[in-house]
Amino acid sequence: MNATIKLEKKHFPVLLDELVSIISPLYGGTFIDCTFGQGGYSKEILRHQENRVIAIDRDKKVLSEAEELKKKFGRRFRFFHSTFKEINKISKKDQNIKAIIFDLGYSTNQILDLSKGISFKSKGKLNMKMGINEFSAHDAINNLSEDSLSKIFKYFGEEKNARLIAKKIILERKKKTINTENLVRVIESCYKKKYTKKHKATKVFQSLRIFVNQEISQLIHGLVNSFKILPVGGLIAVVTFHSLEDKIVKFFFKNYSEVSNNSRYLPINENSLKLFNLPQKKPIIPSHHELKKNLSSRSAKLRYAIKLNNSNNFKLLYEKFNYLINIENLYLDI
Ligand SMILES: C[S@@+](CC[C@H](N)C(=O)[O-])C[C@H]1O[C@@H](n2cnc3c(N)ncnc32)[C@H](O)[C@@H]1O
Repeated sequence: MNATIKLEKKHFPVLLDELVSIISPLYGGTFIDCTFGQGGYSKEILRHQENRVIAIDRDKKVLSEAEELKKKFGRRFRFFHSTFKEINKISKKDQNIKAIIFDLGYSTNQILDLSKGISFKSKGKLNMKMGINEFSAHDAINNLSEDSLSKIFKYFGEEKNARLIAKKIILERKKKTINTENLVRVIESCYKKKYTKKHKATKVFQSLRIFVNQEISQLIHGLVNSFKILPVGGLIAVVTFHSLEDKIVKFFFKNYSEVSNNSRYLPINENSLKLFNLPQKKPIIPSHHELKKNLSSRSAKLRYAIKLNNSNNFKLLYEKFNYLINIENLYLDI
């Protein structure tokens, strides 16, 4: 027998059972899977005949999986190679959308794909592009100023040696172009302690991934544009993987689920409307059972909210996180 072995590690859809229990009361309509990946969520939703899925992913490498689903589910499944901040151009309000789902971060395939250079275990030219990018980690590390690099490491990675690492990068860059191995060495040389709990390059690599993929602006615009196309009664669910993402999602849901001006002497205006119902204040985290099966789900947090009212006013959200958007905009100096 001629057996073909597929050398791909399976991506376990994170918090799948928990997500299904939240969205299944809404079954019978269109669901938008903003982060298709290997289709774990989409396939589960499509198991129910009455559901349709619109899926989005920025990575071209998921196209073959999307083609499989098109063959199997026909018109019930549509795929768009795009970033999710464009969701309002992909879908319109009149499509009976029941829920919009985000599973942020990277799929196992992307992490294992050494050509993407997402992990500090990769070799050669820096990259980190997920797909549909303006620039790479190579461009950022080899062109940005010490000040810009230091901000990226500090705010996107909470790296305590941010300034020193940035300084050393500038010095190293005068001698040669910096690749993945050089960068790891520079970072390691900035730590006094020989042993640290996590790899010393973890935070800088995380910060560069966020910067290269403009993850903060993607998330903020993605949430706001999702809200715009979602009918009242629809649900937004987001799985995050790091504290910065979670901070944004938590603020978005919590801030707009509280009435900001409830004085009975003042007229109700758009700013004081409650935009969401928040059934659960605390995030849902993976069970022990899931952690045993898939340890990489350990930092996942699922938050969700149900839309109550329409609004166009997200000024507070943009004001609160403008300092992060400004750091992402430093790419304009490349
Ligand atoms: C964690 S994986 C999703 C896994 C998926 N839920 C599954 O079960 O197979 C995240 C996916 O989202 C995609 N992605 C990340 N940010 C995106 C963005 N801003 N727009 C579109 N796709 C994005 C990545 O390319 C990746 O394929």
